[in-house]
Amino acid sequence: MDTPAAPTLPLADGHTIPVLGLGVWQVPNGPECVDAVRWALEAGYRHIDTAQAYGNEASVGRGLDESGVPREDVFVTTKFYPRSKDPVAAVEESLKRLGVDQVDLYIIHWPQRGPTWAWPGMERAHELGYARSIGVSNFSVEELDEVRAIADVAPVVNQVQLSPFEHRRALIETHRRHGIVTEAYSPLGTGRHLDDATVGEIAGRVGRTPAQVLLRWCVQNDLVVLPKSTHRERIVENAQIFDFTLSDDDMALLDGLDRTRGTDRARESKWW
Ligand code: A2P
Repeated sequence: MDTPAAPTLPLADGHTIPVLGLGVWQVPNGPECVDAVRWALEAGYRHIDTAQAYGNEASVGRGLDESGVPREDVFVTTKFYPRSKDPVAAVEESLKRLGVDQVDLYIIHWPQRGPTWAWPGMERAHELGYARSIGVSNFSVEELDEVRAIADVAPVVNQVQLSPFEHRRALIETHRRHGIVTEAYSPLGTGRHLDDATVGEIAGRVGRTPAQVLLRWCVQNDLVVLPKSTHRERIVENAQIFDFTLSDDDMALLDGLDRTRGTDRARESKWW
């Protein structure tokens, strides 16, 4: 799977995950989502990140199919919607909607009703071959510790909101200690961080766009990065992040933007 356009990181279970993935949060099921997935695959992405809660798995499956890229070359993630009861029954439905036999990664979307109750079901989905790797999303250090204490199969990723403005250093450090890959969602701050003066100044100086600077910061921090766009030119632009390097000084400038004070929490405010 490791191509110049799609470098990978190793997962603790022996598999690999492409560093760049297309996020499809808030993309409605339908042509917009099908096109975004197809354009991303045409642009060299080999990783699509969806969720049961997004309601667009069918379009992700269709985009995958229409792209003509072989299924085994694409890393597909979906997330267990934790307001449902059973991770196994839920992923069976996801597989039907996606039109695949297995997802590459299945993660608990957020720790609703506590961090541990769904994990045995996630392990069962893994054992049955419905999910090649399993992990979590929006879990703090404390919640991760609780899962690891009861797990037979440990989570291999934690997907959290991450950018220079939400750096969560203590959480990332814990992930490193336990061999957990950190996935960054909303790496552009859902668009808000693109107008920041420091980001713009660096972008101008290095001849890149603000989006590319924010995404490159994630790459140089060994994060998996999941930008969302439904515009073809932006999808292409967001993939052009492996042919330049930010200097240590520019990385430090970006590090200075953190507003979380290096938190070990996954969210400052919870929606669950
Ligand atoms: P759109 O989908 O209309 O292209 P995040 O990945 O942090 O969630 O940010 C997604 C938001 O940023 C979306 O509103 C998306 O708009 C916008 N966006 C994504 N890539 C770019 C880009 N390269 N330039 C400008 N805006 C972008």
